[in-house]
Amino acid sequence: MRVAITGGAGFIGANLARHLLDRGAEITVLDDLSTGYERNIAGLDLEFVEGSILDDHDLEALNDADAIVHLAALPSVPRSIENPLLSHEVNATGSLRVLEKARARGAHVILASSSSVYGANPILPKVESMRPMPLSPYAVSKLAAESYALAHQQVFGLPTLAFRFFNVYGPLQAPGHAYAAVVPAFTHAAVTGTTLVVHGDGKQTRDFTFVGTVVAAIGDALERRVTSTDPVNLAFGTRHSLLDVVALLEDMLDRAVPLEHVGTRAGDVRDSQADSTLITSLFGSVEPTELRDGLAQTVAWMQEYIA
Ligand SMILES: NC(=O)c1ccc[n+]([C@@H]2O[C@H](COP(=O)([O-])OP(=O)(O)OC[C@H]3O[C@@H](n4cnc5c(N)ncnc54)[C@H](O)[C@@H]3O)[C@@H](O)[C@H]2O)c1
Repeated sequence: MRVAITGGAGFIGANLARHLLDRGAEITVLDDLSTGYERNIAGLDLEFVEGSILDDHDLEALNDADAIVHLAALPSVPRSIENPLLSHEVNATGSLRVLEKARARGAHVILASSSSVYGANPILPKVESMRPMPLSPYAVSKLAAESYALAHQQVFGLPTLAFRFFNVYGPLQAPGHAYAAVVPAFTHAAVTGTTLVVHGDGKQTRDFTFVGTVVAAIGDALERRVTSTDPVNLAFGTRHSLLDVVALLEDMLDRAVPLEHVGTRAGDVRDSQADSTLITSLFGSVEPTELRDGLAQTVAWMQEYIA
């Protein structure tokens, strides 16, 4: 199978490329390296096209794909608050452009949406059918992207699957930049013995999902060409606070980690937890990874990465 991964030099994309190559897929990566890194896919037996989903010529990299995993996006809520127009252009318009490209060939499209679409809706766990209440331009752009995927399925019969990722973490997720996600930022601080910065009281909760589980679900979806008329939560209903993550890291590294609490961030939701009924019914063979096990793999990678 020929699979094109947009955003394939990013954290999830580079993990996915490894997973699919191990299973014999032919891979093309289209990535503009705006938040991804060529080193993430260095040495892998794949075709790398450095370019943007916003450029017609670059999009030709998707021409021969039987399936497209569309991960390219400008991630991060704070980044979208700083530049809402760019966030919309890449995440919403860019997704529409990828879907139009897929339509020309009838390619299966798996698209990355986000739990942030639930936003201000306080009900837990988050069921796919509940009303989205996005709190940030990023969340709006992701809601637009998944809606386009579902509309292309309805109107044009394009086989699509929109996954709502929750907090995905694991090896290859970069720490040390202004928009770093919480797990790499915490793991980096814990491993290097620097002060760990917590936004708010640290009791906010997330459904942390190990990247190995995410790529296993995507791989299974590609193999069985799974589609869905509803978006699908790709998380398994676990709920841990940020302080739980800190405690696990301290336990694993056998030392206390100095914490500094700073203000909460605009656009962040307080609690997040997936209802996993739909994912479990569609992907019975995909098993969640315990947070402790996933963090141990992340720490091991981080120790090697920063060494
Ligand atoms: N990591 C998470 O917890 C999480 C949660 C919810 C949703 N998501 C979504 O999953 C996808 C992958 O996220 P990630 O964590 O791997 O982030 P990432 O930043 O590591 O990967 C995104 C990739 O897209 C590339 N990209 C950005 N704009 C592009 C453009 N115009 N053309 C081509 N490539 C472009 C970047 O260079 C990067 O390699 C994104 O769509 C993100 O919104 C991630």
